[in-house]
Amino acid sequence: MLRHSKLFPLGAGPGGLKNMKSKVENKMDKLKELIDALEYITHAEATALQYLVQSLPFNPIVVNIGAGAGTSGLAIMQARPDVHLTTIDKQLESSPFGCLSAETQVLKDAGVDMSNYSQIHGNSSAVRWEGELIDMVFVDGDHLENGVRGDILNWEHLIKENGIMVFHDYKKIDAWIKRNPGIEITPQIIKEIKPWKWVDFVVDELMELAYQRILLADSLVAYRI
Ligand SMILES: C[S@@+](CC[C@H](N)C(=O)[O-])C[C@H]1O[C@@H](n2cnc3c(N)ncnc32)[C@H](O)[C@@H]1O
Repeated sequence: MLRHSKLFPLGAGPGGLKNMKSKVENKMDKLKELIDALEYITHAEATALQYLVQSLPFNPIVVNIGAGAGTSGLAIMQARPDVHLTTIDKQLESSPFGCLSAETQVLKDAGVDMSNYSQIHGNSSAVRWEGELIDMVFVDGDHLENGVRGDILNWEHLIKENGIMVFHDYKKIDAWIKRNPGIEITPQIIKEIKPWKWVDFVVDELMELAYQRILLADSLVAYRI
């Protein structure tokens, strides 16, 4: 009884379970809506990200580099209730590439419990982390050479042994070819794919040989630290 009153609080009224179910579904739909509208990450990448978060120990500490539209932040927060997420972004508000305030809004709109969520406003390759060791870092911020290199150097040593470091926008051309077998890739298509050569280069140089790759979904790649 107690368990049920916690899950479905008083006030749900007649037909309460049905109402609550559709509220929960609406909240989950926010993520789908965001992915479809903005395409910052794909559905397969969101699923992979959630799978990785679900594989972490209890009360995991996750860092999300690059708020963007809030898609990765929402996917991580919705993956499990005990996750503690910190998002880092150099933009506080109103940027076409995304910002911390956009992520806050998205999480609030989706009904996320904000008590396990925090933000750091700053350059992710330079901020000083004062929290406990981290279970997982998701890197989707500055995609240029110094940015990707800086993120790896600034965060890698703060991840627990057996933790995970994840990168977005890795080998986007390969991901496109896998999704479109038999279709000839043209310079025009490559332009539309917008590959990030420095993500490919730096991740290959600093991660591929040093760590075990544990997952690749579209352009999301994860390593065991
Ligand atoms: C591609 S978006 C992230 C998309 C986000 N993961 C999502 O799913 O919606 C990149 C974000 O990184 C931020 N950014 C770029 N360079 C940064 C840096 N050096 N430090 C912190 N944030 C940075 C941008 O302001 C932008 O919000």
